[in-house]
Amino acid sequence: MSAQLALLRDLKQEWEHCTKCDLHRGRKHTVFASGHENADVMLIAEMPGRDEDECGYPFVGKAGRQLDMIAEYANVDIGKELHLTNLVQCQPPKGRSAFEHEILACWPRLVRQIQIVAPLLIIAAGRAAAHRLVGGQVSVTKDRGQIFDCNFPGVLTDEVRIPVFVMLHPADVMRNPDMNPGGALRETLDDFISAFEIVDKMREEWFGTPPKNRRINR
Ligand code: URA
Repeated sequence: MSAQLALLRDLKQEWEHCTKCDLHRGRKHTVFASGHENADVMLIAEMPGRDEDECGYPFVGKAGRQLDMIAEYANVDIGKELHLTNLVQCQPPKGRSAFEHEILACWPRLVRQIQIVAPLLIIAAGRAAAHRLVGGQVSVTKDRGQIFDCNFPGVLTDEVRIPVFVMLHPADVMRNPDMNPGGALRETLDDFISAFEIVDKMREEWFGTPPKNRRINR
């Protein structure tokens, strides 16, 4: 087992029975993560929904199927190239969004997770994630497809700078699946490809890794 996998297992166990906020009262499962423990790209969304609460893994319901489709279009193998998680790991009641104090209660878990995965790029999917990771000035509709350099608490240094790429949430895209130029689905597919092309370029420059063709399914 890799060191990262072992560290993530320990983190998951540490937070599995968390009672730091009231969200634990209605949960069936804490929803920690899925994908790869050492992925170059980490996608952070807002919160688990009913399907995720049922089974304990992020993005398994309708929004997950939408994300699978987006990933396939961008020639991304989620199991190998992406680490998926949320701002909070318990489902808020009655379909409401997570409150600020709930997001803050889960923040140390998320920071530790970022430190362990050590992604080259974070995708903030949707308004809540963009606001928390980048700042309240960000508008997902205006700033989608943009990169913001953000500081996170580091392990070897006090802070590490990680680029955060803003994207619409797959569930928002589902509500407006417009493939025409300027449509939400089309823009999100293009954004997702761009995010991975940015990382492919970093890997090519730094490590000589040949880039994958992300436009093969276009
Ligand atoms: N929506 C999210 O924000 N996260 C999930 O894990 C599933 C749906």
